[in-house]
Amino acid sequence: MTFNKPSEAIQMSLFPESKPSTNIADFVTPKTYAGLAGFHKYWGKKPIESISYLIEKCTNEGDIVMDPFLGSGLISRECLLRNRRFVGIDINPFSIEHASFLLNLPSPKEYYRALIEVESLVAEKINSTYLTSDGQIASHYLWEGNEIVSVWIKQKKARTRIKLEPSELDIKSYSYYKDYTPQHFRNLTFFTNSRINVKPTMNVSDILTGRAMRNIDLLIESFSEYPSHLRRTLLLTLTSSAGQMSNMVFAIKNRSNSKRNGNDDKIEVGSWVIGFWLPNTHFEINAWNCFKNRANKLLKALPDQKQAVYKVSNDCASVESSDFNAWLINLDCRTALREMPSQSVSFVCTDPPHSDRIPYLELSELWNSLLGYTVDFEREIVVSNAKERLKSKSNYNSEMTEFFMETSRVLKPNGHIALYFNARDEESWQYLKCIEKTSDSLKFVGCFPMSYSATSVVQDNRKGSMKSDYVIIYQKLQANDGYQLSSAFTSIPGWSSQFPKKTEGKAK
Ligand SMILES: C[S@@+](CC[C@H](N)C(=O)[O-])C[C@H]1O[C@@H](n2cnc3c(N)ncnc32)[C@H](O)[C@@H]1O
Repeated sequence: MTFNKPSEAIQMSLFPESKPSTNIADFVTPKTYAGLAGFHKYWGKKPIESISYLIEKCTNEGDIVMDPFLGSGLISRECLLRNRRFVGIDINPFSIEHASFLLNLPSPKEYYRALIEVESLVAEKINSTYLTSDGQIASHYLWEGNEIVSVWIKQKKARTRIKLEPSELDIKSYSYYKDYTPQHFRNLTFFTNSRINVKPTMNVSDILTGRAMRNIDLLIESFSEYPSHLRRTLLLTLTSSAGQMSNMVFAIKNRSNSKRNGNDDKIEVGSWVIGFWLPNTHFEINAWNCFKNRANKLLKALPDQKQAVYKVSNDCASVESSDFNAWLINLDCRTALREMPSQSVSFVCTDPPHSDRIPYLELSELWNSLLGYTVDFEREIVVSNAKERLKSKSNYNSEMTEFFMETSRVLKPNGHIALYFNARDEESWQYLKCIEKTSDSLKFVGCFPMSYSATSVVQDNRKGSMKSDYVIIYQKLQANDGYQLSSAFTSIPGWSSQFPKKTEGKAK
């Protein structure tokens, strides 16, 4: 068996059914990328520790919390575990799939059973496309441009690999699927965006070999008969491993420690990095192995405890109905917010796209294609380098104004907004400072730095960046409401009643 059978013992995970701690001290060392939170990549995942603290301090049980820029959806489980109800909105279909997965997890046992069935259906067929001339299964092919230069075979017991010259069969196996047309996923839509290395002429066959596409098709087909929560989990296991199945896996040559060992031509397998970089020297990895490794990672992370059954709706007009625990809505948040009743939400905790770093829909194209979704690029609120998208900074600010107006309408009086934010340019900070003028009921209360992000490898450290992300707190107040600053905020390390000054936190 290639899957690790789940043990009977209770496993530790980020989300045991008892709620995780909300200790301020944990803000500094968040577990954001551990357990379930680390299973699938998404850009801009925010630390759960500060989010859960804010949920507890800003709401009571039964209240509605909303995240209109949901992303990975990690916040949704935090809310439900604390008996809050939750509205999550995102224009990215991937985001809603991932949040739905988090709210309806399979047990490790049922996921394991499904994996064993999938294995019996397709593993052999997939592996046969990687058959070498001596009857073994290749784990990796090293490519130089359009040519396979080395074939790797993993040895069963030892952790070593055999490296072979490519044989005629290796070339034949690859060529057999060269012109394969995918059956169960669509072509990719790209714009001209050098930041993520794409152009409109690129298509799915630039990213995946025909063989990988055919094997992905086999996997998708084998998921079709499962109930929706299992099918979704299997599909997300696939999207989570798709980067490693692609032509985007770097070959790392001559890493300094291998040089020290006198082994100058040692080549290591890198991993897919964000964007669509197609390195000339790259690996093609056995697609079954990629899927299996990811599945084993999830098997470890799935909580063993019995899961609550959450009732989830996708209709924002029904927000407040006691029939549901959560609403997960795949729409532009401005459109969704317009459907929602006024004064229905107690707390908005959100992390909108900011600055010009991450074009979420463009980056999620491969995942959305495999999940079978087309996307609404036009309504995305983002600053994109793709000129033809007309997603400029000033557009962004006016779209965010629509968001703030609708959000303050659906917020209950005295309700708070926690906005996770960062930007390199003064204009963005000035814009946030002036929100009070756009929406006469929102008042800036204060902010605090996400100190952990100062040391994070993914923190923006381009020229002019701030050292860390900030959380900015607003409150909905009527003109004559008295205002009292809560000690729940003032006790947060780094709390300030002044807006962050760009010069204070500048990265080196
Ligand atoms: C910074 S990410 C959120 C990440 C999230 N905090 C997490 O922990 O994963 C911003 C999200 O806003 C979404 N978004 C962009 N435009 C949107 C729109 N018009 N309506 C709703 N969501 C939008 C993007 O798809 C992206 O998932």
